[in-house]
Amino acid sequence: MEPILKGKHIVLGITGGIAAYKSVTLLRLLVKAGAEVQVVITPSGKEFITPVTLAALSGKPVVSEFFTANTGEWHSHVDLGLWADLMVIAPATASTIGKMANGIADNMLVTTYLSAKEHVMIAPAMDLDMMAHPSTVRNLATLESYGVEIIEPAAGELASHLIGKGRMEEPENIFTRIEKYFLRRCDLKGKKVAITAGPTYEKLDPVRFIGNYSSGKMGFALAEECASRGAEVTLICGPVSIAVSDPNIVRIDVESAEEMLAAARKPFTEADFGIFAAAVADYRPESMAEHKLKREGAEDMTLRLVRNPDIAATLAAEKRDSQVFVGFALETDNEHENALKKLRKKNLDMVVLNSLQDKGAGFGTDTNKVSILSKDGTEKSFPLKSKRAVATDIVNEICVTDI
Ligand code: PMT
Repeated sequence: MEPILKGKHIVLGITGGIAAYKSVTLLRLLVKAGAEVQVVITPSGKEFITPVTLAALSGKPVVSEFFTANTGEWHSHVDLGLWADLMVIAPATASTIGKMANGIADNMLVTTYLSAKEHVMIAPAMDLDMMAHPSTVRNLATLESYGVEIIEPAAGELASHLIGKGRMEEPENIFTRIEKYFLRRCDLKGKKVAITAGPTYEKLDPVRFIGNYSSGKMGFALAEECASRGAEVTLICGPVSIAVSDPNIVRIDVESAEEMLAAARKPFTEADFGIFAAAVADYRPESMAEHKLKREGAEDMTLRLVRNPDIAATLAAEKRDSQVFVGFALETDNEHENALKKLRKKNLDMVVLNSLQDKGAGFGTDTNKVSILSKDGTEKSFPLKSKRAVATDIVNEICVTDI
């Protein structure tokens, strides 16, 4: 197999901390493994390590300022952000972490971070009290919620001679994390993915329906994640007010559960991976009134509901061995037990559990907090993250599933 880092575009960000000397080793390891590395260094980073060393090792001029002073040449952080398959900031100081978390774009490194389209990793390095300060803790949690991967610093003797947590992780270990990232971040070129998203509306009459609060954000984030990895995606969605921009996503709009099932059959049969992120109504009115139901007379009203098809269970019953199907479980109590029941009953390979007990998780929000339960009995829990970052975690898990 070709070395996983061969030809990968990596932006290595270096900030002003004593651990910057270790970044030279990281740079050497990356270049030796065949990666193309562009170093971006903050002005204070240059106090610790010279651009000449970094340029010689990377084979590329080091970028630090927005302009080259004598020629006026502009360095485009946007181009760099687009070029990078991965951005790694090592060491990341408290100051840079704070700027990244709060969008303070006053240097080339932070503007490149804000423009980065792909994954970002940071290896914090600072004194133990700075590391434990609530502002650092909060900023790191914010970055994690944006999907930034934090390479935790180790405990040991620090530059201040104090002993504690704050030593930048060793370059060899950062290198291994980078390799693992690319190994896990599988390409989905040539793969077909089918996804259900959003709510279903079950009509009572021409103006009323039974529905739920699903916004479609989770399913759309999954569609975009799969499409960004090259998959051909079919997104079957209930009534939502979001748009897709990726040309690799074919969107099919439906309203009711029955329509969703009918539209999903072919894409799920043909898919390599299927994901059921929709919040489907389990029941629908037995019949839809032809005209608007009138209030006149009766004090109360009884609605007769009939069962809707279970889309996930129906389609997963016909699943081939080569297919991976993933369901969601939206729970309010007995979360694990219920999620495991759904995994087995619906013949799924994985269930993504999100609980309405967790703040920021579930319906409508831009964030979610999930655990992924697999049929082999493994379970992984993730912190609160943006739905796009959650989608990355889910797709990574699908990619490493043995089929
Ligand atoms: O759309 P958002 O606002 O971003 O919110 C995201 C979400 C909360 C809707 C999403 O993360 C989620 O949890 N989706 C599944 C919601 C749900 O209906 O869960 P459930 O536990 O009732 O269903 C279990 C699984 O069976 C789900 O994969 C569901 O899509 C599927 N199902 C359920 C009933 C049914 N009739 N047909 C189905 O396919």
